Amino acid sequence: MIPYKTIVNFSRESRTPVYIQLTNQFIQLIKDRTLLPRTRLPGSRTLAELLEVHRKTVVACYEELVLQGWAESIPQKGTYVHHNLPELNQQKLDNSLGVKENNKSGFYFNKDTTLDRNFPQAFDASYMYVNDGVNDERLTPTDEIGVIYRKLLGKKSNLVHFGYGTTYGNLELRTTLVDYLNETRGLNISLDNIMITRGSQMGMFLSSQILFENGGYIIVGETNYSSSDTTFEYAKANILRVPVEDDGLSITAIEKLCKDKNIRAVYTTSHHHHPTTVTMSAKKRLQLLNLAKCYEFAIIEDDYDYDFNYNHAPILPLASHDVSGNVIYVGSICKTVAPVFRVGYLVASKDFVDECAKLRRFIDRQGDAILEMTFAKFIKEGSLDRHKRKVLKTYKERRDLFCKLLKEELGAYLTFEIPKGGMAVWVTLSKTYTWSQVTEVAKNQKLLFVELQRYDRANIGHNGIRIGFARYNTEEIKEFIKRLKTTLLLLDA
Ligand SMILES: Cc1ncc(COP(=O)(O)O)c(C=O)c1O
Repeated sequence: MIPYKTIVNFSRESRTPVYIQLTNQFIQLIKDRTLLPRTRLPGSRTLAELLEVHRKTVVACYEELVLQGWAESIPQKGTYVHHNLPELNQQKLDNSLGVKENNKSGFYFNKDTTLDRNFPQAFDASYMYVNDGVNDERLTPTDEIGVIYRKLLGKKSNLVHFGYGTTYGNLELRTTLVDYLNETRGLNISLDNIMITRGSQMGMFLSSQILFENGGYIIVGETNYSSSDTTFEYAKANILRVPVEDDGLSITAIEKLCKDKNIRAVYTTSHHHHPTTVTMSAKKRLQLLNLAKCYEFAIIEDDYDYDFNYNHAPILPLASHDVSGNVIYVGSICKTVAPVFRVGYLVASKDFVDECAKLRRFIDRQGDAILEMTFAKFIKEGSLDRHKRKVLKTYKERRDLFCKLLKEELGAYLTFEIPKGGMAVWVTLSKTYTWSQVTEVAKNQKLLFVELQRYDRANIGHNGIRIGFARYNTEEIKEFIKRLKTTLLLLDA
């Protein structure tokens, strides 16, 4: 007889009822053919005595096995392993092997190495991570957002929003954003021109899947936001690069490419070019719009940090001057409030928005309507503007301190311009060593630079990187500069 007492284990402390634990163990014994089809299972009284459980527990286990088709009950005879079970063609697994097997699929799939990232999935608090310009999540207005969210959840009339809804996003947020964007960005849009996304990234993804469905060319800067490069490559677009000058993308180079090739789109972070932070001049904005009209290409305008300007009022986006339907404008509240709230928008001509909304159904179905309504209220009640004013003041102070210390303490090692906006400084090493060499030494100072290659995907060798300042408070900025200075001194030694 099979030594049930030793091979069937269960715990009385587990939250899973004992009869379910027994059932699962029997299923495993049947699957790995320790118990073969037609094997008679011990009588319920015998097994109960053996395992020191109540007989009802064994009866419940056998009933479950019969119900699931693993066993059959033959009247007057007993319970048997089902006679008609095919052999499961697999290796016998012990627990440790099972874990290993879970890491490898039993089928072929395409592994796309262009999507690989070398970005930490978990952060070690003893390190300072050099980020490329993110907000300080400690400043998130969680209480205010929480109050609105809870109120909306508790309201019976909102149950209508709990089902499957439109792929364009919540109507209240769309309506609110139409007014808000028209007012703050000088747009001239209506409800037909906007859909809600889960952040700018989704806007870029949807647009590129539609624009480059048969391949085609997109123009980006020689330095460019690395994730947008990947998004376009993944959509099978061919990337062409133009120089980024002090006032934005080179329009001369764009025009030259338009004469040679059938350009489908130009991607721009016009407000503060990512990564170098320069702002596209008014002249270039108008020139680019004229070219787009003339050569019939799309401008994907990623306005990721519109809200953060320290020296002057924000410059109106290209989308505000677009009269020919060439601009696809993507933005979000993710950087302004907190990236965890995946609420963004895509603004374009109606026909393009309709196509994006159709495609969205197949990757995400719809957004989080209650969260979207929360942000509609947050915007309408003036809380977003209040929050922006508050963080803008803090980030400006941090920028000033960061740039001051960078110049005073590290001026001999680096060059940079004080950014007019955004959350990061574009810093170029003036030494003969590279940021990769700095990275290695910095690790010992508990300073971690991540994914430097993202700043120079075109391999132009500029020796510059973005360093985010907004996330650090005064003490942290001082500590950051100290660690970086020690690193550079060590490299010099
Ligand atoms: C230039 C740029 N565009 C888009 C994004 C993505 O923003 P979101 O969180 O709104 O998807 C980022 C995020 O860092 C960014 O830097």
